[in-house]
Amino acid sequence: MPMDISVASISKTYAAGNKALDEVTFDFHLNGIFSLIGKNGAGKTTLIRILSTQLLPSSGRASIIGMDVVDQAKDIREIVAAVPQEARAVPWMTPLQTLTSYLMWRGYTHSRSMDMGRDVLRMLGMEKQEGMKNRNLSGGQKRKVLVATALASEATLIFMDEPTTGLDFISRKELWEVLVSMKRDRLIMLTTHYLEEAEELGDLLGIMDEGRMVGFGTLDELRRKVKYPLGIRIFSKDFTVPDHIGDVVTLSNNELQVYTTEDGAYSLVNDLLSRHIKFTVQEISLNTIFESVVNGSEGDE
Ligand SMILES: Nc1ncnc2c1ncn2[C@@H]1O[C@H](COP(=O)(O)OP(=O)(O)O)[C@@H](O)[C@H]1O
Ligand SMILES: [Mg+2]
Repeated sequence: MPMDISVASISKTYAAGNKALDEVTFDFHLNGIFSLIGKNGAGKTTLIRILSTQLLPSSGRASIIGMDVVDQAKDIREIVAAVPQEARAVPWMTPLQTLTSYLMWRGYTHSRSMDMGRDVLRMLGMEKQEGMKNRNLSGGQKRKVLVATALASEATLIFMDEPTTGLDFISRKELWEVLVSMKRDRLIMLTTHYLEEAEELGDLLGIMDEGRMVGFGTLDELRRKVKYPLGIRIFSKDFTVPDHIGDVVTLSNNELQVYTTEDGAYSLVNDLLSRHIKFTVQEISLNTIFESVVNGSEGDE
């Protein structure tokens, strides 16, 4: 059954007077990965903490499969596991001890917790490290231990706040595989500031800026909302793109990048083909969408 999240006009002002969330509204049903992106200070952690019942909103309502995050926080905690942004694996414990103690705290027996812990470590390719001290693991392995706790809990809603920040590329890729293997029967709400990670993993994306949700949808839906969803790279010394086609960026003296609409691309492609000029067509990346939505220069809303 897909997880159901509904957020209606949630705002949060911290005691210091900082307005971290400003009337955030969205809802969706999904099993898979919801990826929340935004610059530092956009409000991602605040939103995640409210939805995982660790922080009260100042106003507005939110619910998870119909349970209110304020009134039914206790029920929500039964189905939720969270890996906070600042979480660290306890350095003098082993991965297996970390998992077992977490699972016992969640209510499983000692022997069941040990079995579940071992299974998850095997899944993550960490069976050889189960008895090492966390402090002696690599950065990627330490992070995997935290992800493992969320995975082992059998929670159907998992919050992970920047689980890959600061990891090297290989460790990030390994964690991506883990997240993809975890997502089938649950919802993972993942924040990241690596846009290529959100593009790769996010079945659904939310773009936050200054406490507001400024973009929401699948990658294709987000593309359709920007003015120029297509990019055409033209390899020619003497081709001039007509002004009405879109935005032109000169990359070198024989390479142009054009951002345009489907109609613009169609006429440009015909023109280029008839003149035997080489070109490539791409859909714009999440990076380009992000720039356009967050900096507001290209958005049509
Ligand atoms: N405990 C707090 N007290 C006061 N202001 C805070 C607190 N936590 C976050 N903020 C502020 O709220 C805004 C959003 O922060 P946060 O939700 O952590 O954003 P993100 O996770 O996207 O970086 C920022 O301006 C931040 O400084
Ligand atoms: Mg954060």
